[in-house]
Amino acid sequence: MGKNYWDTKFGPVYANEQALNELDSFLGGYKNRGSKVFFLVDENTHENCLVRLVPELPSLGEYEVLEVPPGEESKSIEIVYHLWSSLLELEADRHSVLINVGGGMITDLGGFVASTYKRGIDFANVPTSLLAMVDAAIGGKTGIDVGGAKNVVGTFSSSKGLFLIPDFLETLPERETISGFAEMVKHALISENAWETISGMSPLELWNRPDEVRASMQMKIDTVESDPLESGPRKYLNFGHTFGHAIESHFLSTQPESPLLHGEAIAIGMWLEVELSVSAAGLDRSMASKIQEFLVNTFPKPELPESSWNDLLQWLLHDKKNKGGIPQFVLLQNLGKPTLDHELSSDQLKMALRAWNTP
Ligand SMILES: NC(=O)c1ccc[n+]([C@@H]2O[C@H](COP(=O)([O-])OP(=O)(O)OC[C@H]3O[C@@H](n4cnc5c(N)ncnc54)[C@H](O)[C@@H]3O)[C@@H](O)[C@H]2O)c1
Ligand SMILES: [Zn+2]
Repeated sequence: MGKNYWDTKFGPVYANEQALNELDSFLGGYKNRGSKVFFLVDENTHENCLVRLVPELPSLGEYEVLEVPPGEESKSIEIVYHLWSSLLELEADRHSVLINVGGGMITDLGGFVASTYKRGIDFANVPTSLLAMVDAAIGGKTGIDVGGAKNVVGTFSSSKGLFLIPDFLETLPERETISGFAEMVKHALISENAWETISGMSPLELWNRPDEVRASMQMKIDTVESDPLESGPRKYLNFGHTFGHAIESHFLSTQPESPLLHGEAIAIGMWLEVELSVSAAGLDRSMASKIQEFLVNTFPKPELPESSWNDLLQWLLHDKKNKGGIPQFVLLQNLGKPTLDHELSSDQLKMALRAWNTP
């Protein structure tokens, strides 16, 4: 049995068996003080998660539900304005609490709304997608998008509680589950002793493996806790994300009707950055091949034809983590041994892309 409670810098975290009871007493505490409880959901998490959750919370009593349309488009200032207005109309005061029940879109949006409404009201996260459970709901970052640019406006705000209930994965669409699994794979690659378990697993059995979800969440907690200001180890979480974000943006701009999901792009980013790790960080070739084989067997493998490479390199130049306009890569010296701040030539980057296209 692993740990089920953490007192973190970004608020207490409860996992698995303990989470439902803790959420009930957490809400009971607000009720006893006469506070109003608001849930934020999207249409899917309303139907699949909130309706399952409410009957399990005997202390809840009366509550209000704020629903937004599903999808990244809801992380917008228009929706934020709508939510601020709804809270005002429903007479939310400084003592009210907002419970975000959803994927990363909802936890980012709800955290932002709560941390700004009346200069900040309490909020808690109940992540329902795999990505939110092991990544988005943890670490205190909230935010919304501006136009096509992601997470441009936001806050660092601690939630009053994070409640991990992996049963919600039962209704998460397969494609979303596989995409979220990419972040678990990333955690396993940058942490010690996790690869054996993760590389022997299929993402589709995860709803039945709550301990693995909890363990991956703990890896993110440990990393963020060790480096709240993002000066060192927290940057390891960018593994796969330098190339991954460029790939995500490339697909979004060239085929907006069928973009890649975040984790799908990150899986390709990890494959390419594993390849770069061999030439630039000393990763053993046979280990690299093992990791790469697992990645292509687990995640979709879209083409990245040579005609797309210049566009990809352009997107890399726009990466917000660049220093002096130069992309910074996290590479692996070995399993569990990430290293920071690698700057690579465009020839090296193209070699990795060539390897992706070589059967
Ligand atoms: N704050 C952070 O540190 C951080 C880190 C990583 C990602 N993010 C953000 O997270 C967001 C992506 O999160 P996501 O992948 O969870 O997307 P999402 O919230 O849009 O959820 C994906 C889809 O799954 C549905 N869904 C969620 N849970 C479900 C369930 N249990 N059953 C059925 N359907 C369900 C949602 O309605 C949605 O259609 C992005 O906006 C990203 O910027 C934030
Ligand atoms: Zn990510």
